[in-house]
Amino acid sequence: MAILKIARMGHPVLMRPAEPVADPTSPEIKRVVADMIETMDDADGRGLAATQVHINKRIVVFRPPPDDPKQPEGPNGPVLALINPEITALGEEMDEGWEGCLSVPGLRGVVPRYTKIRYRGVTPSGEKIDRTVSGYHARVVQHEVDHLDGVLYPQRMKDLGLLVFESEFERFLGQGTETGDEAHAE
Ligand code: NI
Repeated sequence: MAILKIARMGHPVLMRPAEPVADPTSPEIKRVVADMIETMDDADGRGLAATQVHINKRIVVFRPPPDDPKQPEGPNGPVLALINPEITALGEEMDEGWEGCLSVPGLRGVVPRYTKIRYRGVTPSGEKIDRTVSGYHARVVQHEVDHLDGVLYPQRMKDLGLLVFESEFERFLGQGTETGDEAHAE
């Protein structure tokens, strides 16, 4: 296992779409996933996409948040690694919420996301995942899969007046409203 270097906004690796993984259960992919989880935890992140660690493959890891009754695991609960993830928005409804990103350190922003989505993918052990989620869980998945398409959260923002420094966010805006998918991560 190894802690990988995290690319920051402006690096070309974050701008190009990632390639599908041909064999999700290969030892190479298991190794990549293990390194990604170690890197995410070291950075105190909620989620991480392979492109953020200079690997141009369609892989994300994240911890399903505790606000989904079907997902009892908390912030330190089991991590989900999803290979070749696909998202379908269920309905038109969108919510706005604060997000942070390991590749955009020191900032927070208000981002509109679909309230309810279905996501599918495969785990490194070959298990097929097919879930319908909403709220925070849906937000995390949309943020991470955006990374695989070369999109960072500021590109999704409607009002750049709500792109703020983390320290000011905590001082003036926090108060438990943070719903970012990489909250507390730098
Ligand atoms: Ni991110």
